[in-house]
Amino acid sequence: MTMGRVELRSMRAHEVGDVARLHRLMFPSNVASRFGPRLVHRYVDTFRSSPGAVALVAERDGALSGYLLGVTRTDRHRAFVRPRRGGLILVALPRMPRNAWFILKVLRRRLARRSSPQAQTDGPGPLAVLSHLATREDARGCGIGGDLVMFFELEALKQGAVTGYLATDDQPAGAARFYEGLEWHLDRHDRTADGRVLRIYRKTLAP
Ligand SMILES: CC(C)(COP(=O)(O)OP(=O)(O)OC[C@H]1O[C@@H](n2cnc3c(N)ncnc32)[C@H](O)[C@@H]1OP(=O)(O)O)[C@@H](O)C(=O)NCCC(=O)NCCS
Repeated sequence: MTMGRVELRSMRAHEVGDVARLHRLMFPSNVASRFGPRLVHRYVDTFRSSPGAVALVAERDGALSGYLLGVTRTDRHRAFVRPRRGGLILVALPRMPRNAWFILKVLRRRLARRSSPQAQTDGPGPLAVLSHLATREDARGCGIGGDLVMFFELEALKQGAVTGYLATDDQPAGAARFYEGLEWHLDRHDRTADGRVLRIYRKTLAP
């Protein structure tokens, strides 16, 4: 496969729409996608604007071929998102009735977790979370995914994060082997609110 010229960089404001469309295409059933295009647009832009997160894009010959959304410092990102939550809820409002059952399942799971010992084992040190990563099908296998992950790890390190986490589907077609090749280690299994089994990976970022 010819590689073409690949550029990795931070997402620009005018690219949020294209990345949001790609995100809905790649992850149609994840939480943000369930609440429609406007919410996905706001969600993607949150990573771009937050001082505790990054939104990265890969361009091949000038065309968007991949993106990564990640939290480089969970504490800073939470502080950024907290006062903006009301705006996100307003945008999600029209799709809440059709997602009522899903919302109930998420709330029930959150309540159960508050009292679970698992919630206290997410250390040590400041954390980073690789939230979403995808490359377009015609750009896979060229190293773009791996380069985006390394870019994210460096940004998280610069922000002082010590440990990184990510979740991926526990399915043969999932990206488990891809992350294992990048030295992320299986930490545990988990379940989404709608019952999908996830593999939680962890990596020590600090040297
Ligand atoms: C996972 C994904 C981002 C990898 O992107 P990519 O640009 O193809 O990654 P790279 O070219 O850097 O691949 C690096 C290596 O991982 C391997 N790999 C990539 N995806 C893989 C998968 N799903 N299963 C097994 N191996 C995989 C590649 O074959 C390559 O191996 P090699 O170096 O030995 O040849 C891409 O396959 C994708 O977008 N998948 C759909 C969305 C997804 O699963 N995202 C991750 C969920 S968080």
